[in-house]
Amino acid sequence: MRFHIMTLFPEIFNSYFGESIMKRAIEKGIIEVFVYNIRDFSANKHKKVDDYPFGGGAGMLMTPQPIYDTYKHIVDTHNIENPRVIYLTPKGKTLKQGIVKGFSKEEDIILLCGHYEGIDQRIIDLIVTDEISIGDYVLTGGELPALILVDAIARLIPGVLNQNESFEDESFENDLLEYPHYTRPREFMGLNVPDVLLSGNHQKIEAWRKEQAIEITKKRRKDLYKKYCKK
Ligand code: ADE
Repeated sequence: MRFHIMTLFPEIFNSYFGESIMKRAIEKGIIEVFVYNIRDFSANKHKKVDDYPFGGGAGMLMTPQPIYDTYKHIVDTHNIENPRVIYLTPKGKTLKQGIVKGFSKEEDIILLCGHYEGIDQRIIDLIVTDEISIGDYVLTGGELPALILVDAIARLIPGVLNQNESFEDESFENDLLEYPHYTRPREFMGLNVPDVLLSGNHQKIEAWRKEQAIEITKKRRKDLYKKYCKK
């Protein structure tokens, strides 16, 4: 799967994709990440990428030309048909695991990171297929949301996680939050690992984990719990 990230701050992405699971996935060739500096595509002789909003108002907007030309470059050089273009914005649909799963089926994903007060609406009208928010709070730009989205999608692609990193039991699968985990030592600061986990009885362990997952979901996330009960 190929991720194409359009940004004014390409450096932000280097360290994240150079570490841990993302690095391994790239080295294995399971995912490819291309980062494009929108400023490189500015037709302006000073490489300007922002301007004042028509009608007045606070702050600057990203102008359409450099973004459109970056997009054209991506689509043409990689021969992408029906490109999925995701604009990260607090106005977008709130990201959920189900949306992530949908995106993980694509061959190519183009992500557009906004900055300043946002982007010219005509870019959204012309090229954006999905507007996504990572939550009800406002960040200074779309770079962190883009990283979050790429990470969440990439880990669902077969081969990115190895077997013991698998996501079968994790939070949001089956509309339940995950059960608690324990490792060595058996006792820490006077707190013991629950006996059942040391019992070796896998049926009992499974039952305990399910019960814990249900309890924690009921306590913390009534919305998910209701969904779970309806199944
Ligand atoms: N850009 C700024 N804030 C954002 C958010 N919450 N989600 C996605 N993109 C954003």
